[in-house]
Amino acid sequence: MQKVLFVCLGNICRSPTAEGVFRREVEKRGLSDRIQVDSAGTGDYHIGKAPDRRAIAAAARRGVDLSSLRARQVSARDFEEFDWIVAMDKSNLANLQRLCPPQHREKLSLLMEHVPNAPTQEVPDPYYGDESDFEHVLDLLENAAGHLLAKVEAALSSVETGA
Ligand code: 4NP
Repeated sequence: MQKVLFVCLGNICRSPTAEGVFRREVEKRGLSDRIQVDSAGTGDYHIGKAPDRRAIAAAARRGVDLSSLRARQVSARDFEEFDWIVAMDKSNLANLQRLCPPQHREKLSLLMEHVPNAPTQEVPDPYYGDESDFEHVLDLLENAAGHLLAKVEAALSSVETGA
């Protein structure tokens, strides 16, 4: 088993979209029973809320349903529980580094660092933007999902073979 947590600020725009897009890739490859996916926010403003309606709409246009997701905040347990804790931007990553016990810090990364020759290091916050900003987030996440999944699959094989 490998467990992947996507993290942004509010857990209503980028990280639930990342969760939905990545889960679809996991399902396509028949790995749903071996790779678990979740998302959370570093902030507490939107706990319990569904994703932003613009995020739901943008994901739906690409066949990904986010409507049943609900926002939650990152908790101390997440650092124990997850194998991959993947931040959308540098500010999210800095917050995670501050909260994360030292023995788990190597689980932390920026999503775009998994993408060779990525056009940007960060998935920009679309909250104060418009529809095109949400489309841009989807473009980045759809591209990143396959690259990250290849790494998670490799880790899964080494866990399962005990290598
Ligand atoms: P997210 O976007 O971090 O991608 O979920 C945001 C959502 C809400 C806020 C900021 C970013 N906010 O300040 O309320």
